[in-house]
Amino acid sequence: MILLNKPNINFNLKINTIIDTLKSNELSTAGKYVGVFEKALTKFTKIKYASAINSGTSALFIALKVIGVDKNHEVLVPTLTFIATANSVLYNNASPVFLDVDDSHNLDKEKFFKFIKNETFIRNKLTFNKKTKKQIKAIIITHMWGNSFFDIELYNLCKKRNIKIIEDAAEALGSKYIINKKKIEHVGNRSDLACFSFNGNKIITTGLGGAILSNNKKYIDKVNFLATQSKTDKIRFKHSEIGYNLKLSSLNAALGLEQLKKIPKFLKDKQRIHFEYYKQLNHLEGFSILHDDKKTSNYWLNIISLKNTKKFNAENLQKYLYKKKIETRFVWYCCHKQSYLNKFQAYKIRHSNIVVRNSLCLPSSTDLKVVHQKKIINEIKKFRNLYL
Ligand SMILES: Cc1ncc(COP(=O)(O)O)c(C=O)c1O
Repeated sequence: MILLNKPNINFNLKINTIIDTLKSNELSTAGKYVGVFEKALTKFTKIKYASAINSGTSALFIALKVIGVDKNHEVLVPTLTFIATANSVLYNNASPVFLDVDDSHNLDKEKFFKFIKNETFIRNKLTFNKKTKKQIKAIIITHMWGNSFFDIELYNLCKKRNIKIIEDAAEALGSKYIINKKKIEHVGNRSDLACFSFNGNKIITTGLGGAILSNNKKYIDKVNFLATQSKTDKIRFKHSEIGYNLKLSSLNAALGLEQLKKIPKFLKDKQRIHFEYYKQLNHLEGFSILHDDKKTSNYWLNIISLKNTKKFNAENLQKYLYKKKIETRFVWYCCHKQSYLNKFQAYKIRHSNIVVRNSLCLPSSTDLKVVHQKKIINEIKKFRNLYL
């Protein structure tokens, strides 16, 4: 089976750091490689502070907590995202408000501006939802499939309206955003806090793991405090508030460190794979490949969209490719349609529904062999000849 997105640790792996964690009993969250990995992440992203966390989901949960999200608040969330993005809001007893995405699969900013203009009001410099009267405390910006989102007007408006920005950069380590003609920055540099995932299918993996990065030291200090049981007195074990056990272990961090050394190569591999799909399939009637021509994406996962007729559609393409031993995956089912989330407000959602119906994720592992990608492309072309 050609897999969708498998980890790449089968290179000339220098396991010295991993052996060292085992030999030196540096296994736990208190082990030395946690700090070393955090430092390496700040160096790579040029974001000043980092906290290594035990998953991307935990990172989102704790990031929202750090900015003070609670039951009185709402958080704006694009409906086309992995479920963890929405769940992190619920973990904090707050309510999500779901927004649409556009052709890029990222937030539809025009609809966001309309929502703020028509559906909210300001009181005491804070932003409230006209419908629910709840304060809109934050927005989570996702970088879907590694394709970055940045919009200076949106960032400025959020600042003016006291809406904090959390980036869900789970899929986007190595992705950049364009600030202006002269400035390109790694994602995560402009928001309050940015959350990354190092789960097994991500561009680098620690097995399970994640991180929160921020240019605000106070935020990262608070993340570390909450993520290590909110301990105020290490000798007498005193705790000032409810805390959690959410840090990454040193053993996982050691793997992350080795993986991070390989990211320049992984980024090149991902880009090569993406441009091959784009070149071979995008021009064919009936297909389109989601494309970031600015080359700011880490090209984590490739998405093909189909015209969608009775036989020529994503579902049938998946079945066809499965028979040829090629794994594909549907894109996330929209959050606003999930049975336990459909009671929350969803603002004029249209395009996300179309994306879900028409799209499929294609194999994008960094070590995808050229012959295997050729096979995938040929089979997709054959499917088109059969059914379009
Ligand atoms: C967009 C998005 N958000 C959050 C997560 C959650 O990360 P994790 O699986 O590390 O908990 C993922 C990854 O699976 C994701 O793709």
